[in-house]
Amino acid sequence: RKNFVEVHSIIDSTNSYLMRRLPNNVAHGQACVSEFQSAGRGRRGKEWISPFGSHLYLSMYWYLEQGMSAAMGISLVVGLAVSDVLQQRYALDVQLKWPNDIYVNGKKLAGILVELEGQSIGPGNCVIGLGLNINMPKQSAEKIDQPWTDLATELGDEIDRNVLSAQLIARISERLEQHHQFGLTPMLDDWQRQDFFYNKQVKLLTGEKETRGVCKGINSSGALLLEIDGKQQPIYGGEVSLRGA
Ligand code: BTN
Repeated sequence: RKNFVEVHSIIDSTNSYLMRRLPNNVAHGQACVSEFQSAGRGRRGKEWISPFGSHLYLSMYWYLEQGMSAAMGISLVVGLAVSDVLQQRYALDVQLKWPNDIYVNGKKLAGILVELEGQSIGPGNCVIGLGLNINMPKQSAEKIDQPWTDLATELGDEIDRNVLSAQLIARISERLEQHHQFGLTPMLDDWQRQDFFYNKQVKLLTGEKETRGVCKGINSSGALLLEIDGKQQPIYGGEVSLRGA
């Protein structure tokens, strides 16, 4: 397949840009990158600090033919695709944190923001955003409130962002097509092999509510399996963190 890629120098947010083009001005698989984002967005309404030329800010539009019920799996599938590229092409040992963070050596390398538009039933529109740290400037590092890493640190080498973007776009499309055809089940083993929190004691924050449990992987709907008082329960939303951390 061919993906059309738009390259911007300055933009508010690559995700917002593609969302604004819905429903008629964007094609299935169309991608967009920018050198800079003035209003980069992370999950939970947080800012995604996006200094000029330092990182990768990438978004892709995907028409979700199989319906919005598949949306939960999308961020997991994209996480896997990113991890495939980092492992196969750059020999990095990658961990995945449900639902959509990418870790290397216990520190966050990349984050995924999936945004949806459409009714809960039937097909919908999906914009997938990926922010991947390449070479963190000092001034930006001071503003980040969690352990992070970048490719420069992990590889000790400069990488070509154009090549990396092309590899990511191709692999994300491939994985999303596999997901469309066969669902999440055939990917569960791949995901679980890299599960950062597997068998770890965690706390889950849902709004104000805090639940404690042990992570037991994910199920075929993409829900996190949390063992609470000896019973596994599927979790569809919330923020998971290591207990005591
Ligand atoms: C997270 O971990 O909170 C998700 C971060 C997602 C950031 C990317 S950068 C490209 C795209 N455009 C945005 O405004 N956000 C995503």
